[in-house]
Amino acid sequence: MDGLREAAKLLAQAQRVAVFTGAGISAESGVPTFRDALTGLWERFDAQSLATPQAFQDDPDLVWGWYEWRRHRVSSVRPNPGHHAVAAIEAHAPQATVVTQNVDDLHERAGSAQPVHLHGSLFAPRCSVCAEPATLPAPAGEPEDGRRLTPPACATCGGLIRPGVVWFGEALPEAALEAAVRAAAGSDVLLTIGTSGLVYPAAEIPRLAARSGAAVIQVNPQPTPLDPIARVNLHGPAARCLPELVAAAWP
Ligand code: OAD
Repeated sequence: MDGLREAAKLLAQAQRVAVFTGAGISAESGVPTFRDALTGLWERFDAQSLATPQAFQDDPDLVWGWYEWRRHRVSSVRPNPGHHAVAAIEAHAPQATVVTQNVDDLHERAGSAQPVHLHGSLFAPRCSVCAEPATLPAPAGEPEDGRRLTPPACATCGGLIRPGVVWFGEALPEAALEAAVRAAAGSDVLLTIGTSGLVYPAAEIPRLAARSGAAVIQVNPQPTPLDPIARVNLHGPAARCLPELVAAAWP
C-alpha cells in the first residue's frame, strides 16, 4: 500500500489524533523557517543575539524591532492549504489536538480552535518585569528586518514589554507542555508536520507518541531524525500533502 493510502487509513480509523507542527507548515504562506539552507532565520540572523533573555536585556530595541518585523510579516500573509487541512482534521477526527512550535497565528486564522503554543506567540506580548499581558496595535508599516524599535512600557509597572515567545534558555509554558504531553501520550495517530525535530523538549513530543504506541505520520519534503519513528513518511510539502491526506481519509 503506498504511503498516502496507508496514512489515510490510519487517520480515518483514529479516535484520538495529535497534530504536531513546526515552521515548515507556514513556509508556503511565506513565513521563513529557521534551518532551511539560505532562507532560514537562523541562517540569516544570530539566534543568540536575538532570541535569548540576555539579548533582550543587552539591546531591547534590536530584539523588539526584530520580533515586530516577524509579527508584521505574519500579519501580512495568509494561512495556506496545509493549515486549512489541519483544521479539517480537527473537524473530522473524533478527538484532535493541535500542538505547534510556531509563534504565528496561522493555525487560528485557518480555523483551528485552540492550538497549543509550545513556544508562545508573537501575538501575546507581556511585561518583562511583572508579566502583565500587553495589547499591541496592528503592526504599522513594514518594519524592515533588523530595524530597531523601542519596546512599549507596561501600563501597570512601566517595565519593558517583551515578545510572548519562548527564548533559548527559557522553560516552555508549563500548561502548554502538559497539554502537549497528554495529547501525544493519548493519541492513536500523531502527525508531525514541517519540523526538523531538533529542538527539545518540543522534539520529544512525536517520540513520546511513538513510545506510547501511536502511529506517527511525518510530512516533510526532507528526511529528518524523526524518519525512523514514523510509520509513514510523506516526503512532500505540507500545502500539497495534507489536503491530499484529508481527501483520502474522508472522501
Ligand atoms: P526548522 O526550520 O528547524 O525546520 C523546518 C522544517 O520544515 C524542515 O525540516 C524543512 O525540511 C521543513 N519544511 C520546509 N518547507 C516545508 C513545507 N513546505 N512543508 C513541510 N515541511 C517543510 O523549524 P522547526 O522544526 O519548527 O524555537 O524549529 C523548531 C524550533 O527551533 C522553533 O520553534 C524555534 C527554532 O529555534 C525557538 O525559537 C524556541
